Amino acid sequence: MSNTRAACVIGWPAKQSRSPKLHGYWIKRHGIDGDYRIEERSPEEFPAFVTNLAGNGYVGANITMPHKDAALALSEPDARARSVGAANTLWLDNGRLRSTNTDVEGFIGALDAAAPGWHERTESAVVLGAGGASRAVVYGFIERGVKTVHVVNRTFEKAVALRERFGPSVQPAHWSDLPRLLDGAKLLANATSLGMTGQGDLAIDLGAVADDCVVADAIYVPLKTPLLAAAEKRGLKTSNGLDMLLHQAVRGFELWFNVRPQVTRELYNLLATDITRT
Ligand code: ATR
Repeated sequence: MSNTRAACVIGWPAKQSRSPKLHGYWIKRHGIDGDYRIEERSPEEFPAFVTNLAGNGYVGANITMPHKDAALALSEPDARARSVGAANTLWLDNGRLRSTNTDVEGFIGALDAAAPGWHERTESAVVLGAGGASRAVVYGFIERGVKTVHVVNRTFEKAVALRERFGPSVQPAHWSDLPRLLDGAKLLANATSLGMTGQGDLAIDLGAVADDCVVADAIYVPLKTPLLAAAEKRGLKTSNGLDMLLHQAVRGFELWFNVRPQVTRELYNLLATDITRT
């Protein structure tokens, strides 16, 4: 019997996933007898597949659209996955199917790399969007001690729902509140799909933000969104969606292959080339 440990990404569709390239790089780098594959499974197929992960040959998995809610319900989530309301990483722990949400550390890890110590000088943040990505960002900010997180969303009720989920640190806001909120802002994160190739534009004036404001964007196609281009022009520190993707992958790899890998410039460039080419 083979000793190869294998993990996979499960999604519908999943062909476009960059995770095999990323985990494949670390598997090779660390000389691990391992594999990482794509498993496209429909919502109907997902429960049977994931609850028999070992039988399907896997020690763990990444979960992507549209299965993150189902993965949470079908596994034993940690506090982080439960609070965010979605699981993106599964692993087998003595036969138990456990889950976490590594989008939180993806976002926070990317910020730590771009602007070390950011949280020590940041009392409040502005987050655009109130969907799944936003929940991970807001959770991460609160966990790091950011006292007030202004959540700006087109559908105001969804921003209110984040306050109900995470408590009074969350201040729901309307898009029209942005000029006031950005005046002197030290931390701005885009967790909407605006700025993504093929989606609408995110037109934001960064003129009034603090000179040491940090700007993060969860989007990675394109790598440099118009928001990040404007932030760079203004001389601000930035992190992009690829930084997040790489940092969110670290914990899963560690759980499955028992090695904590590094996010390196070489790895970034490998994935960036792939994204730019397609
Ligand atoms: P994800 O899981 O990536 O966060 P999502 O849950 O669909 O995806 O959330 C998408 C976010 O982008 C939402 O905050 C959405 O705003 P609504 O809640 O009002 O839908 C935001 N978004 C998408 N298109 C938008 C647009 N054209 N203008 C403003 N916000 C938009």
